[in-house]
Parts: sequence; C-alpha cells; structure tokens
Amino acid sequence: MNAAVRKYWPQYKWSNVFAMIKNMRRPPRRHTGSFGGELVVITGTTSGIGYHTARKYAAMGAHLVMINRNPEKSEAVRQEIAAEFGTPVECFIADLALLEDIQRVGQYLLSLAEPIRVLIHNAGVHLESRQETADGLEVNFVLHYLGPLLITRMLTPKYQRDRTGRVIFVSSEAYRFAVWGLDLDDLQWQRRRYSGLKAYGAGKLAQIQSIHVLADELAPYGITLNAMHPGVVRTESGRDNGPLYQWYKRTIIDKYSGTPDISAEALYYLGASPEVTDTSDRFFHLTTEEELTPPARDLEAAEALWERTRELLQEKGVAL
Ligand SMILES: NC(=O)c1ccc[n+]([C@@H]2O[C@H](COP(=O)([O-])OP(=O)(O)OC[C@H]3O[C@@H](n4cnc5c(N)ncnc54)[C@H](OP(=O)(O)O)[C@@H]3O)[C@@H](O)[C@H]2O)c1
Repeated sequence: MNAAVRKYWPQYKWSNVFAMIKNMRRPPRRHTGSFGGELVVITGTTSGIGYHTARKYAAMGAHLVMINRNPEKSEAVRQEIAAEFGTPVECFIADLALLEDIQRVGQYLLSLAEPIRVLIHNAGVHLESRQETADGLEVNFVLHYLGPLLITRMLTPKYQRDRTGRVIFVSSEAYRFAVWGLDLDDLQWQRRRYSGLKAYGAGKLAQIQSIHVLADELAPYGITLNAMHPGVVRTESGRDNGPLYQWYKRTIIDKYSGTPDISAEALYYLGASPEVTDTSDRFFHLTTEEELTPPARDLEAAEALWERTRELLQEKGVAL
C-alpha cells in the first residue's frame, strides 16, 4: 500500500458520498437582489455555464467583463447581452491555457479602477487525450488550476486597495477522481497513462487545494474564495473529443443532465447573496456546502503543491 492510500483511506467516509448524492437532487438557493451596476468578471462565457451566468449577472444589473479566447464568439455574446439587458459589457481576449495570456489577464484586471465585486473562474475543458500547451504544460493543469491561481494572486494589490471581492472557482465533483491526491512528481501526466477523467479530477483537486492557501493570504483584505460544483448540466463540454465520446455524451450524459440555468442561479447566489458574505474556503454543491474528501482538505498537501508549483513556474520564468 503506498503512503497516500495509508494516509487517506482511514479518513474516507461513506457519509460524504451519500451527502453528495443527496445534494444532487437539491435545487440551488436563489438570491433575488440586484447587482447594482457593480463589476463581475467571468471567464469562458462563449457557451454553457459561463454564458448563462453572464446573462444572469447582466439581467441583475451587473457591469460585465468577459474573458474569452475566441474573439468572434465573444463579440457575439457581448452584443447579445448588451442589447438585451442594456448593461455595460466588455470582452478581453485571452487563451487561459497560456502563461503569457494568463499574465495579460492579471495585468488587465489589475489596471481596472473599479473594484471587482465577483471574479468567476469558469473556463474549463474535458479532454479525452492529453494536450500540451506551447509552455509545455498539460492543459487541465493550466486551465483549471494554474490560470485561476495566478490571476487571483496577481490581483492582491488591487484587493489590498479595494478591500472587497468574492472569488468563485467553478470546480467539479470530479475532483473526487483524484482519490489518493496529486502526484507531485508527475503533475503534467508524462509518466502515468493519461486518463481524461483522472487528469480533469486532478486539475480540479489542485484548484481546491490552492484555494486553502489563497484564502488565507487574502482574508486580511476581506476577500472570500470558494469553489463550487455547478451541477451536471448540458453544455458544450467535451466538444473536441472523439465520435464515441460525442455519442456517449448525446445519448447518456446529456439525457440525465440539467440545464445550465441552475448553475447560473447558484453562481449568482454565491456571488451576490448576503448569506455568504463572510464565507470563505468552502466547497459548495451548487449552493449547499459540502465536506471535502481527505486529499482535498489536506493542508500539508496544499502547501507541498504550492511549493512544487512555485518551482515549476520559476523554470518558466514566472513568479508565484
Ligand atoms: N457541464 C457540466 O456538467 C459541468 C460539471 C462540473 C463542472 N463543470 C465545469 O464548468 C465550467 C464550464 O464548463 P461548461 O460545461 O460550461 O463547458 P463549455 O460549454 O465547453 O464552456 C467552456 C467555456 O470555457 C472556455 N474555454 C475553454 N478553454 C479555454 C481557454 N484555453 N481559454 C479561454 N477560455 C476557454 C470555452 O471557450 P471556447 O468557446 O473558446 O471553447 C467556453 O467558453 C468548467 O470549468 C467545467 O469544468 C461543468
């Protein structure tokens, strides 16, 4: 038995899994108050959960900044939302799997005079086969973990100044696939056989672990950070996977999936409701708080990941 199994096995509880199953049937709590012209930043709004969430915030009167990689799709959504809701909507174009673009996003957000009341890290992918970015990093690792971490951390001086802000990480219950934690010697899936679900789960687990460290760092400025599972909902997720996956998604996954409206409702509640103003470093299934699995609440592992990430970024010439 390896060390991770010995460490985590005794901490696992079946009640944790049953709670998740129960939460799958619970509708999200709703917040009906306006967003009052304040600023929300959302990544990945060209489809699915991000798109519905952008519409929800705009409908509630938010000033919207959308970070997207596809200029045409982004502009079409911008025009649609601005025309329908009459709120200010801006796009910033960036590929959030690239270190240079991630840093450009951080610089841009840092330069905004207006406080960012809510920042939603939503952009994500589910990839059947391993893909590497131009920086030589595995896509799940960058998009779900490194990007949100770097952008949030780069905003520290702004948060110190503004003293307000909620950061929400669109996570997934799939983080549970990383049952025995992360392999710090193979974060890029070069030595192990790549599995789409496991790499996705590992990216989301790394994200959750990073929130523990970031939440501590940003707490003195009144900034809250939370992760949430947005439900199992019909979106464009997995669109670049092969025909077998597409068939499986159409006939099985989509059939049992909800609509992304529930994700948008939950993301609005978590961003705007006074009931969660002081709540930080928690995981929500839609809007119901859940206990994390043992590796996800392991603070030692979170610190070790942070150190490994710092080294890795140093090799790429990026400071953490
Ligand atoms: N759907 C579900 O049931 C479910 C369940 C749990 C968690 N989630 C999470 O929910 C989030 C949203 O996913 P979704 O289901 O709504 O999928 P989706 O419809 O495929 O939307 C993904 C969004 O992310 C953007 N994106 C992908 N790669 C990007 C990159 N490199 N740079 C910038 N933007 C990028 C996409 O932009 P393009 O249009 O340019 O591709 C799109 O706007 C993800 O984090 C996902 O892991 C979804």
